[in-house]
Amino acid sequence: MPLASYKNYTLWRASFADIGALRRLEREIFPGDAYTSIELALQMILPKTGNYKLVDSTNQVVGFVSTMDSLWGNHPAWIMTLGVSRAYQRQGLGRFLLDWGERRLQAKRVRLTVRAGNLPAITLYESTGYVHVRRVYRYYSGGEDGLIMEKRLD
Ligand SMILES: CC(C)(COP(=O)(O)OP(=O)(O)OC[C@H]1O[C@@H](n2cnc3c(N)ncnc32)[C@H](O)[C@@H]1OP(=O)(O)O)[C@@H](O)C(=O)NCCC(=O)NCCS
Repeated sequence: MPLASYKNYTLWRASFADIGALRRLEREIFPGDAYTSIELALQMILPKTGNYKLVDSTNQVVGFVSTMDSLWGNHPAWIMTLGVSRAYQRQGLGRFLLDWGERRLQAKRVRLTVRAGNLPAITLYESTGYVHVRRVYRYYSGGEDGLIMEKRLD
């Protein structure tokens, strides 16, 4: 059974069997920064992680969100990755995945890192309550800065 559905798409917990499809999605939407298959597998076995895939009616993966909840104390949770395949963007899927990932967290705050020039993602995050907390100089491939953003969950 799917965990949830949104429009014609269903949400499932991602497993090792999905790594090929997730890697293809990563390479499509994060050219230069895509997680490797090993990194994707690690995300699935590390403690306190949540890995969710959104699929269409033909079972094709169209979106993915991965989270890591707070490991101790007041430490923040992290959105590790969030992405929607290009052909499926601007239908609300990114907002749905982000909301789903956040709602499963027990931490009081959640953080993520985004390319400083990634306007679509920054617009989404700001619209749901994330604020900028720090800039990480030349964090990404090609030398672009990263922005760390944070949202309170309580
Ligand atoms: C960022 C991303 C996940 C958004 O997914 P999406 O399914 O297209 O987003 P949604 O349709 O849910 O849009 C939610 C909001 O995001 C903002 N947004 C999304 N795409 C936008 C764009 N191209 N330009 C400006 N704002 C945009 C809007 O505020 C939008 O709300 P609206 O449609 O009511 O105006 C998607 O663009 C993506 O996968 N990009 C490539 C990977 C990436 O950058 N991931 C984030 C890494 S930190």
